[in-house]
Amino acid sequence: MSFANLSITNRLRLITVLPIFFMTCFSTLVVWAVIDYSMRDQLTASGEVLAQGIARNSEFALLTRNTEDLRHLLCTSIDVSKDIISINVTDLTGKTVVECQSQSHHYVTQVVQVFADVRIQIAAGMKKDDSDLEMSPLKKVIGQVVVNLSTANYKEKLFKLYETIAGLAAVVFLIGITFSRLLSGTLVSTLHEIVKVSKSISRGNYDPYFLHKQSGELGMVQDAITDMARKVGDITRNLESRVQSRTRDLEKQTQLLEKSHQEKKLLIQMNNKAIEAERRAIAFDLHDTLNTLLLSMIGYARHAKVFLGKYNADARLNPAIDYIQSIESNANHLYSLSRDLVSNLRPEVLDEFGLADAIEVLLANQQKLNPQCHYTFDYTPDFPKLNYDFNIVVYRIVQESLSNVVKHSQATLCHIELTYHPEEHDGRVNLHITDNGLGFDPTVFTGRTGVVGMKERAESINARLEIISDKGRGTELLLQVTV
Ligand SMILES: Nc1ncnc2c1ncn2[C@@H]1O[C@H](COP(=O)(O)OP(=O)(O)OP(=O)(O)O)[C@@H](O)[C@H]1O
Ligand SMILES: [Mg+2]
Repeated sequence: MSFANLSITNRLRLITVLPIFFMTCFSTLVVWAVIDYSMRDQLTASGEVLAQGIARNSEFALLTRNTEDLRHLLCTSIDVSKDIISINVTDLTGKTVVECQSQSHHYVTQVVQVFADVRIQIAAGMKKDDSDLEMSPLKKVIGQVVVNLSTANYKEKLFKLYETIAGLAAVVFLIGITFSRLLSGTLVSTLHEIVKVSKSISRGNYDPYFLHKQSGELGMVQDAITDMARKVGDITRNLESRVQSRTRDLEKQTQLLEKSHQEKKLLIQMNNKAIEAERRAIAFDLHDTLNTLLLSMIGYARHAKVFLGKYNADARLNPAIDYIQSIESNANHLYSLSRDLVSNLRPEVLDEFGLADAIEVLLANQQKLNPQCHYTFDYTPDFPKLNYDFNIVVYRIVQESLSNVVKHSQATLCHIELTYHPEEHDGRVNLHITDNGLGFDPTVFTGRTGVVGMKERAESINARLEIISDKGRGTELLLQVTV
């Protein structure tokens, strides 16, 4: 059992009970030892007095061997005293001259033995008193008196006394324990209440109440806890209200941000649509006016050539024929440029054949423009026909990406993958463009519009656009959009 695991109740019990227990045991043992010693001392002293008395009366019997009177004396002494077990008188050789045994002490364990020498006066001396006589060198020892005393009697008295003392000690012990239990009980119950109140504070009760108000240090602890809980309550309430108002502010700002984000997206969408509409109008204008005019010019030039051909015998007309020839070829060149411009402004193939075919045409043109790079294209067979507004956004992103490959990458390989996944999110289009060129750090701000425009376009159709690139590691563009 470790003391660290003891509860406060048990610790208090130990603190209060152990000293009382040890004090009670110690004091009863000391009392026992003191009484035992003093009683034994008393017994020995009375035994010695008796032995001395007998010794004085034994001279005659030892010298004359007339022992009858002495025996009578010894037996009378034994009858009078309950403590005497036996009295022996021996001569110098140790031989028993007279002996008397008590009839009541049959089995005795604890015995006190007392001796006294029997002496006779062998020369006359100055005898002032008894003590002088005993110390006189003229006295001779002729025998010895041995008195055996039993401790049983005084032990009996001792036990009776001890019983009373032990009873008193037990009463003191019980009173001590009762008081200590009462004291520790009030302390423990107060501690329990403090723990209970602390728990209720941790659960958010910042106005605690102690049922049993204490005085002294415990009262101070209770007051300190109550005070602390109220202050914590104030701080918590203050913090909560600040957090709530901050949360409301943040929610408002988030709503505003979300709104402005939506507005920005709408604006980009409208802007892109307006640009595409403008491009479309220009394309139509070019197609209907410039291209028509150029075609009619080519037609007139051809007529003029046919007309002048009738006079080909006249050498003076040759320069005019050359001029007309130049006009026709220039008009043809202009017409072809204008057609490219028209198809770039308004890729009709998008309308007619869809995104995959339009990208294929775009790639074929890029291949002519940038022959040192090998372009490849993979796409899902039966790629669905999607609406023009969607197609034109993806198409412009591909256009910008390919233009960057030509302008910046120095790549030798460029691969485009266009896939359609009808099972994902009710239909998803993935566009993946990779090149093995120089690469760049996409996190660096360039201030250019190409990549920014791609991101804005992607956002306008809720697409996820990611450009992964690093210097020397080529460039990868990923576009994911649900259609
Ligand atoms: N495929 C690529 N390989 C290497 N570098 C590239 C690639 N694509 C873009 N970059 C780098 O990123 C920069 C930003 O490209 P971005 O398209 O925004 O601008 P730009 O092409 O320089 O000009 P523009 O605004 O006319 O498109 C480029 O200047 C170029 O350094
Ligand atoms: Mg660019």
